[in-house]
Amino acid sequence: MNITVLGTGVVGRTLAGRLAEVGHTVWLGTRDTARAEQGLVAWLAEHPGVSFATFAEAASHGAMIVHAGNGVHAEEILAAAGEANLAGKVVIDVSNPLDFSHGFPPSLTVCNTDSLAERLQRAYPQARIVKGLNTVTAAVMVDPSLVAGPFSVFVAGDDSDARGRAAGLIAELGHTDIVDLGALTAARGLEMFLPLWLSLMQSMGSANFGVLLQRPAQSTA
Ligand SMILES: NC(=O)c1ccc[n+]([C@@H]2O[C@H](COP(=O)([O-])OP(=O)(O)OC[C@H]3O[C@@H](n4cnc5c(N)ncnc54)[C@H](OP(=O)(O)O)[C@@H]3O)[C@@H](O)[C@H]2O)c1
Repeated sequence: MNITVLGTGVVGRTLAGRLAEVGHTVWLGTRDTARAEQGLVAWLAEHPGVSFATFAEAASHGAMIVHAGNGVHAEEILAAAGEANLAGKVVIDVSNPLDFSHGFPPSLTVCNTDSLAERLQRAYPQARIVKGLNTVTAAVMVDPSLVAGPFSVFVAGDDSDARGRAAGLIAELGHTDIVDLGALTAARGLEMFLPLWLSLMQSMGSANFGVLLQRPAQSTA
């Protein structure tokens, strides 16, 4: 499948590289290809299967889109990708609304009654936004074996078919417990998990961890 990854940071590169490895045709999107920093240029040379393009050109190619851009600038990034290039497509939003401008720990730019993913959905109503994978570090997104046991990842979105497609792609990365949280309002909790994620990362001294959802012992259905 043609997949677009919007974002050239560690998350975008990690996802783009692995998605190409598992057989997808991957387009990596940036603001301005001429302004790629040396580290990215070197990475692209090592990943000939990943095509490099502006946000708009990359988004025009993908049948599915992963938004792995900076959370503070997410709305600008989707605007640059272009409304027409997003329309009808599953857009997996792995970003987090973290504001580091006042140092560490970061604050959330949106929370409680709204989420970044919902803002993106409202701005682009024809895109099929699915929040997912934002609760694990980039390396774990593509290599669950970095965690010493089973753990859960989550999807939330208003379109159930889109949630299923997103879960399918996430499963291709090796994830086995993908919890479907239903409507996109659940993205609030997924994004508000980040303060706890940061505390766990500090207390363990590693980002390679996950949380496991343990279901009720008896079905209450
Ligand atoms: N680090 C992790 O392990 C992890 C895990 C889960 C979720 N996340 C989330 O994943 C996202 C990506 O994180 P990251 O660390 O890989 O990258 P990042 O540094 O947060 O974002 C880099 C991307 O954002 C774009 N960008 C930056 N400023 C911009 C602006 N003013 N206007 C438009 N685009 C702008 C950059 O564009 P250019 O390509 O043009 O430079 C680049 O593509 C974040 O939302 C983060 O919270 C990170």
